[in-house]
Amino acid sequence: MQLDGKTAMVTGAASGIGAAVVRTFARAGARAITLVDVNEQQAELVAEEVSSECDCQLFVSTTDVSQGDQVQQMVDETIRQFGEISILVNSAGIAPAVHWPDVTEENWRQVMETNLHGAFLCLLTVAPHMRQKQWGRIINISSVGAFQGSMTAHPAYGVSKAGILALTKSAAKEFAADGILVNAISPGSIETPLARQNFTEQERQAYAEAALLKRHGTADELADSVLFLASDRSTYITGATLHVNGGSLLV
Ligand SMILES: NC(=O)c1ccc[n+]([C@@H]2O[C@H](COP(=O)([O-])OP(=O)(O)OC[C@H]3O[C@@H](n4cnc5c(N)ncnc54)[C@H](O)[C@@H]3O)[C@@H](O)[C@H]2O)c1
Repeated sequence: MQLDGKTAMVTGAASGIGAAVVRTFARAGARAITLVDVNEQQAELVAEEVSSECDCQLFVSTTDVSQGDQVQQMVDETIRQFGEISILVNSAGIAPAVHWPDVTEENWRQVMETNLHGAFLCLLTVAPHMRQKQWGRIINISSVGAFQGSMTAHPAYGVSKAGILALTKSAAKEFAADGILVNAISPGSIETPLARQNFTEQERQAYAEAALLKRHGTADELADSVLFLASDRSTYITGATLHVNGGSLLV
């Protein structure tokens, strides 16, 4: 499952799943990767670590994916530097531990704009470049919350992640004729800073127990499933959702 010569853009690249995807893609031979995140310092650290072990061009872009003008600038700069974008991974996301009594229009919008609007904006801006090349892979990170509703996170979290699945299907239909495959991954409980910040120790233990495999997944395990969908080993899958949850939700 090599990515030789491929160029990728990974959002949420400073941490957790996004950072693991960057490492995995670089080891798989990607030619160039744009690391997109609001956390510039952390993204630079990931880039430094990756560049010390792989021969891969890296561009760190401090971009808020919910802002269309920033996304446009980041995509333009990537095209200027790398000439194309063959793979887009939408991993940027937030899952604030806000419950119904504290839900406001403002915090609802923040979750929806980061998780759903952000993925939409990146897809909208990158797809024309893939269309030009008649090849592309788009992988959107959803969640079990899309199927179960939010558990500990803000109610908008599950809504945004269900929206990601419909966005994935709509885009898969639109771009199939252009050789662009669009899929979603629905992770269960994955050991990342997001999971550690938003779940209590007790909740985390319960999630591990709920999985048939009796443990959390790792960001590297999740990144391997992203690599599969991004690679030439995946040629007949589009509009699909890959469940990577250790058996915690059987769909
Ligand atoms: N960890 C889990 O158990 C789990 C489970 C299901 C789904 N997910 C999803 O996986 C994705 C990655 O989560 P993670 O666990 O790696 O979280 P994480 O917090 O470790 O990483 C998320 C990254 O997104 C960045 N980000 C947040 N808002 C942004 C914005 N507006 N623009 C650009 N970057 C932004 C953050 O700075 C952070 O670096 C998220 O979409 C999350 O909802 C995670």
